[in-house]
Amino acid sequence: MADFRNTLMLPFQSGAVPLPTSGENWCVLNADSLLLQETMLANELICEQGMRPTFLELEAQGYTVQPVLPELENIDGCLVLAHRSRAVNERNMLRGWNGLKPGGLLVFAGDKTAGVQPIRKWAGRLTEIAGSLSKHHAIVFWLRKQGDPWLQEVLQKPDSSFVRDDFEVAAGMFSANGPDTGSQVLAEQFDQRIFGRVADFGAGWGYLSHRLATQCPRIEQLDLYEADWASLKAAETNVGTARATATARATATAPDTAAVNYHWCDLTSEAPRGPFNWVIMNPPFHSGRAAVPELGNRFIEAAARSLPAGGRLLMVANTNLPYERKLESLFRKVERKDQAKGFKVLEAVKGSR
Ligand SMILES: C[S@@+](CC[C@H](N)C(=O)[O-])C[C@H]1O[C@@H](n2cnc3c(N)ncnc32)[C@H](O)[C@@H]1O
Repeated sequence: MADFRNTLMLPFQSGAVPLPTSGENWCVLNADSLLLQETMLANELICEQGMRPTFLELEAQGYTVQPVLPELENIDGCLVLAHRSRAVNERNMLRGWNGLKPGGLLVFAGDKTAGVQPIRKWAGRLTEIAGSLSKHHAIVFWLRKQGDPWLQEVLQKPDSSFVRDDFEVAAGMFSANGPDTGSQVLAEQFDQRIFGRVADFGAGWGYLSHRLATQCPRIEQLDLYEADWASLKAAETNVGTARATATARATATAPDTAAVNYHWCDLTSEAPRGPFNWVIMNPPFHSGRAAVPELGNRFIEAAARSLPAGGRLLMVANTNLPYERKLESLFRKVERKDQAKGFKVLEAVKGSR
């Protein structure tokens, strides 16, 4: 089925904008696999994609891809694929524009539901829109570099990493406005029982690991697994701060005895390095805008595989998400530990097989 990637190709196919030619530098921000014809030179594209599952797909398809590109300079063209966060879109447009050489092309594309129209309006106030096309419920528009670089002040939704409630968080991450209610309900259960090798699956910017590091002194090793590169980098800062604070107060996990490891990992396709004594998680339950328990089920399977007999999984979920059946099929005992504010906390004990 046609989607915004078909729409992205329209101006190239019609000749409204020239295809990259050999020797040019083009980059793709928030990259996804493009519907490349032979004429489109995949070799000329350098992709940026921080979400590990898409990164792995791009790599398997032969793209040159990095989780973060260094500052863009003197590039001939830049494709920006819409992200669900307006702030991320603005930032990527600014990076692309400022990295272009004079006359270079900045092309933005996304589904109409991804907020392309407001971004086009915003860009149109900064420079002339060179062209725009709409098809397949998606929009593509493009700009030709002229004049001065854009200053940070043009961003209507500033997203530079910020500290809120002592945490480093940035737009585009899960719960970018502060700790998630479900995660807070889960963290109320963290205590002395959690010990040894512990993993935080889908660690985000590190809220749960931060709470583990400050509330569970019997942890010997903490492993954070997260698919989003930027979130994982923020977690390094946030958990590092928690450990420094705990040491200063001499209250919780001592950094010299507990190792903390950060893994950029797609838990649906890459095996975590268990075995663990405990896995804790607030699993993702969204694919785009839809709530789908499937991703959570995949996380439960990954947890079951990395826990030995007697190992425990402690997780939180919206009360309406039906994870119990999957848990009961893979664990010896499943218990509802708490229910509050629309969330349930489930604890599952691994059996001997
Ligand atoms: C509901 S959020 C929880 C984040 C964090 N633990 C918290 O409590 O604030 C789920 C996290 O899982 C991550 N995630 C999504 N798909 C993933 C995958 N395939 N592998 C690893 N992590 C993934 C998301 O990026 C997100 O940070």
